[in-house]
Amino acid sequence: MRNHGGWHPRCACFPIYTAPPVPDTRSITTPIYYVNAHPHIGHIYTSTICDVYARFQRALGQDVFFLTGTDEHGQKVETSARERGIEPKALADENSAVFRDVLNRFDISNDEFIRTTDPEHERQVQGFVQQLLDRDAVYLGEFEGWYDEGQEEYHTETRAKELEYTSPISGRPLVRATEQNYYFRLSTFQERIEQLFADQPDFVRPESRRNEMLGRLREGLNDVPISRTNFTWGIPVPGDESHVIYVWIDALFNYITALGLGEDGGEIDGRGKYWPANYHVVGKEILWFHAVIWPAILMALELPLPHCIYAHSFWISEGKKMSKSLGNFIDLDALQAYDDSYGRDALRWYLATQGPMGATDADFSRAQFHETYTSDLVNTFGNCASRTSAMIGKYCEGLCPTDSGACAGGGVEWDSFTATQVEASIAAMERFDLASSISSAMAIVRQVDVFINETAPFKLAKDPAQAETVGNILYRCLESIRIASCLLHAVMPSKMQALRDAWHLGDPSGDLRTECMWGGLVPGTSIEKVALFPRLEIQDQA
Ligand code: MSP
Repeated sequence: MRNHGGWHPRCACFPIYTAPPVPDTRSITTPIYYVNAHPHIGHIYTSTICDVYARFQRALGQDVFFLTGTDEHGQKVETSARERGIEPKALADENSAVFRDVLNRFDISNDEFIRTTDPEHERQVQGFVQQLLDRDAVYLGEFEGWYDEGQEEYHTETRAKELEYTSPISGRPLVRATEQNYYFRLSTFQERIEQLFADQPDFVRPESRRNEMLGRLREGLNDVPISRTNFTWGIPVPGDESHVIYVWIDALFNYITALGLGEDGGEIDGRGKYWPANYHVVGKEILWFHAVIWPAILMALELPLPHCIYAHSFWISEGKKMSKSLGNFIDLDALQAYDDSYGRDALRWYLATQGPMGATDADFSRAQFHETYTSDLVNTFGNCASRTSAMIGKYCEGLCPTDSGACAGGGVEWDSFTATQVEASIAAMERFDLASSISSAMAIVRQVDVFINETAPFKLAKDPAQAETVGNILYRCLESIRIASCLLHAVMPSKMQALRDAWHLGDPSGDLRTECMWGGLVPGTSIEKVALFPRLEIQDQA
């Protein structure tokens, strides 16, 4: 039970006040998504892994802030809007709404959806840029460099050479461009950024990406332009309306404008406590902005830095880079088709367990999706839950048996075994290691399977004298599956809730640790048979 605090009359004269537990805060962000493209697996993936973390932390009783949104300014949006003969804001409104709907549709439980065209955001960005000007961290200067028109990003000579003067994203040639611009004095932060990487080895994860950043850092930092004059769709530089703020600078600020750190009171709706963020989760191609430029800006503003920038790799599809022309692009329709055939939670499961959270890209393939679904969800979790609940129906009149404590065989100390897995699962999620967290929960389920096979309650049940032992075995199975389901609720909210409903466990309490304590399942509870994950043929799907 949660301690909600209050007066406890230990004795009539000296009541003792126990303060309610102060929840920790956990804050996690996705990148904000460009409104000139349609949502695809990249967006759904980043959002889903953040969602799993956010739900898990909420289940633990933490005070969570999960932020996502749309990145709406810049040349690309202006150009796309012009091509369609509409205003950039109209295009942004339309596509931002698409993103918002899609995230809802995929059960993303974000607490806020920020748009960079929100007046509160624009106002605060101008305020922050003014502060940077006042502190002489930004100056007006001339710049020449290699420009990636698609990405709206400049590259240094060294980097451009490495990229063979071609955009790593669009494959189009980089162009030589000169501009008079406002510059951020990134070069003056070289030592401080190096120090940051040395002092906080987990600032950038995984390790391979951190090393990549360290390599680029060794090439030396140059000042970066933070304004543009060749288009107007952006936030004007304060005091110089002929420049708009570079879309990347505008976008990075979303992480703190959503909390109101640039407002007069320093926060909106008491959200100041959510800064610094625990995790900025980004794709590998946008890590530099987050791992180097963003902390330098925060240092210039004397604001605290986020704890960790987690950069995932990319999904490829059927063994090849995704492309529209190859027909292997996993867009929304493709995702919807998986969702329709296998279910939302199966898709979340695949993204969370097989996704590219490490150094290498991951392959999204029909065969692997099917195999993962069948082996993890049908054969392991689903089978274990349905087998156990079916035996409860058959041998225990559909009611959770009493655990008499008599030895039920199997040689497993269930309370300590599950406690160890629970702690491992929680600790892994804290590190944003989704796969390990999930695998600790699944270790419980796998152990139940072994236990059923070893103790064979279906055989013992033939002998009425063994009824108590059968009850003990099945209690252990039910209780273990219940605990595993609590840990897996964040990744498969609907299916785990369906299990809870069938086993009359109610809604999660918001205190995951207590809920995962052995013995929570009350004997006598009605346990209905569950069939959570139907066995499917591979051709059933998209
Ligand atoms: N607007 C910027 C981010 C600004 S954050 C201050 C941006 N937007 S985006 O719409 O392009 O972001 C897409 C996100 O999806 C990025 O995190 C990117 O890494 C991710 N993905 C895009 N394609 C992907 C895959 N094929 N696989 C996995 N994720 C990839 O960048």
